[in-house]
Amino acid sequence: MADNYETFKERIYHLTNIDLNSYKERQMKRRIDALISKHQIASYNTYVDTIKKNPVMFEEFVNYLTINVSEFYRNPEQWNLLEKDVLPYLFNKFGNSLKIWSAACSTGDEPYSLVMLLAKYMPLTRINIIATDIDKQVLEKAKLGLYNIKSLKGLPKEILAKYFREINSNTYQITDDVKARVEFRQHDLLKDGYPSQCNLIICRNVLIYFTEEAKDEIYKKFNMALKKDAILFVGSTEQIIQPQNLQFAAYKSFFYKKI
Ligand SMILES: C[S@@+](CC[C@H](N)C(=O)[O-])C[C@H]1O[C@@H](n2cnc3c(N)ncnc32)[C@H](O)[C@@H]1O
Repeated sequence: MADNYETFKERIYHLTNIDLNSYKERQMKRRIDALISKHQIASYNTYVDTIKKNPVMFEEFVNYLTINVSEFYRNPEQWNLLEKDVLPYLFNKFGNSLKIWSAACSTGDEPYSLVMLLAKYMPLTRINIIATDIDKQVLEKAKLGLYNIKSLKGLPKEILAKYFREINSNTYQITDDVKARVEFRQHDLLKDGYPSQCNLIICRNVLIYFTEEAKDEIYKKFNMALKKDAILFVGSTEQIIQPQNLQFAAYKSFFYKKI
C-alpha cells in the first residue's frame, strides 16, 4: 500500500473498536492488503474512507478480519475426549450444573455442539451455555441457527433428526429447545470483562491470530474466570507451551486444568 499501516490501525480502531495491534501483524496485514487490492484501492486511507461510507464493504471488512470459520464438533477426536474423559471429571468434581463459556463462538456451531453433547447426560433444561464473540453479525447468524447441510456433515444422523428441522434440501435449522440453552453476547476478549466461576471455558481457533502478549493476557483472564480445578479447552494448534507459568496444568492434549 502507498501509505502507513500504523495510521490505518489507528483509524480502524476508531471506526470499529478492533485493536489490530493485538493481532499477529504479518498475517493480518497480508490478509488486509489482499482484501484492499481485490477492490483495486491503492492506499489504506482511501480504503478506510470507502468503508466508512459503504456499509456492505464495512461488513465485509469486519467479517474478513474476524475469520468466522466454524463447524459442528470441529476436531471430533477432541470432542470425544471431552465427552469420555473431561465431562465425567467435571461432573464428578462440580456436579452437573456446570457454568460453561464458549468464547469466540462464531456462528454458534461450538455452543450448540456442547448443548447436544451435554443433553446425552442431563435434561436440556439443566444446560446453560454463555457464548460470546466480537462480531455482532455472526452472533445474529448463531441466534438464527440456520446451517448449510455441508457444515453438518460430521453430525450423526440421529442428532440431525433430533435437534434440526429441515428447511429445504440444503438448509437445516437448530431447534428452539437447543437454542434456548445458549445465551449469546457480544464480547471482545481483548477489552471486555470476563465471566467468573466457570467450570469449563472453550476457546478454540482464535488465539492463533493474537500476538504472544495478547495471548498471555487472555490466558491469565481465563484463569481468573475459572474455578480452581476447572478446565480450559483450546484449539488443535493452540497448545500452551508452559502452562504452569499461567497457573494451568496440562490435563489432556488441548485441555488445561486451573491449579
Ligand atoms: C475461526 S473462528 C472460531 C470459531 C469456533 N471457536 C471454532 O473453533 O470453530 C474465530 C472467531 O473469533 C472471533 N474473534 C476474533 N477476534 C476476537 C476478539 N478480540 N474477541 C472475541 N472474539 C474474537 C471471530 O469473530 C470469529 O468468530
